Amino acid sequence: MRVRRWVRPRRRQIAGGRWIVTGASRGIGQALAECAAGRGARLLLVARSADRLERLAQQLAATAEVHYLAGDLTEPQFRQQIGDWVGKNWAGCDVLINNAGVGSYGPLAEAPESRLRAVMELDFFAPILLAQRLLPWLKQGRDPLIANIGSVLGYCAVPWKAEYCAAKAALRMAVDAWRAELAGSGVDVLLVSPSTVETSFFDHLAAGSHPPHKRRGASPQWIALQTLKAIEHRRSEVVLTWEARALVWVSRFFPALLRWANAVYARRCNRLHQP
Ligand SMILES: NC(=O)c1ccc[n+]([C@@H]2O[C@H](COP(=O)([O-])OP(=O)(O)OC[C@H]3O[C@@H](n4cnc5c(N)ncnc54)[C@H](OP(=O)(O)O)[C@@H]3O)[C@@H](O)[C@H]2O)c1
Repeated sequence: MRVRRWVRPRRRQIAGGRWIVTGASRGIGQALAECAAGRGARLLLVARSADRLERLAQQLAATAEVHYLAGDLTEPQFRQQIGDWVGKNWAGCDVLINNAGVGSYGPLAEAPESRLRAVMELDFFAPILLAQRLLPWLKQGRDPLIANIGSVLGYCAVPWKAEYCAAKAALRMAVDAWRAELAGSGVDVLLVSPSTVETSFFDHLAAGSHPPHKRRGASPQWIALQTLKAIEHRRSEVVLTWEARALVWVSRFFPALLRWANAVYARRCNRLHQP
């Protein structure tokens, strides 16, 4: 008997799945790769730093099938190379995790075009264009999913991170629409939006240097664990940490309060960075 596409097991199976994780050379992406490898996924790791990817692939090779491709996701040729690799080696893809991302810090009035474009290229265009490129292979996949790592700042804008907020908000809107468009195709779409995470994200900004955080963020391992849970449980949208959910709630129901807090924060940023 032919099993219809919509008759699926309640939990998405991770073991044996062909997973692509972008931004896997450090931070959340590395934790996602470690977590997925531990659960038996087959992995293709993607980032620019070949040496870091090679080290991670070697470390995970004892327990999982791990490959890597090093390159810049903002370049169309590299996205094409990933598509070609998947066609040649897997002839299908089950989970694409669009995790690679970059932040920035500085007032919008002084943002050079290069900074605005660098953030939009990696945080918005690259995940959408990579997913487009891989869509034929995802459609050949088992219970396929496009999982995207967004940010709570895609729900609530804050000063001095305008283009990052804009890119993550654009990603959120696009994947929301795409989820509906893909509903009949069997390809699911997930958006995971963390708040601050303890990675070196703030040391690799497209521009600007972020002042030190007073509050500790979540660990990348915890974010990875929650993301795998969301994948397994077929969630569509997850905002991580209760503080982040509270912030989204305040921005929705008390926007004036958020505007006030943002104005205070902007004044502080301006003071901190006065010449
Ligand atoms: N950390 C936070 O507080 C936080 C909070 C909310 C959301 N997020 C989101 O979580 C995701 C991961 O962030 P993270 O904290 O793990 O940051 P991270 O430690 O800076 O890692 C970013 C990853 O992206 C890769 N990458 C950067 N530019 C790339 C490019 N042009 N092409 C290919 N790969 C590239 C980096 O590797 P290479 O340098 O080797 O290319 C690295 O593996 C991002 O989407 C970020 O926006 C982070």
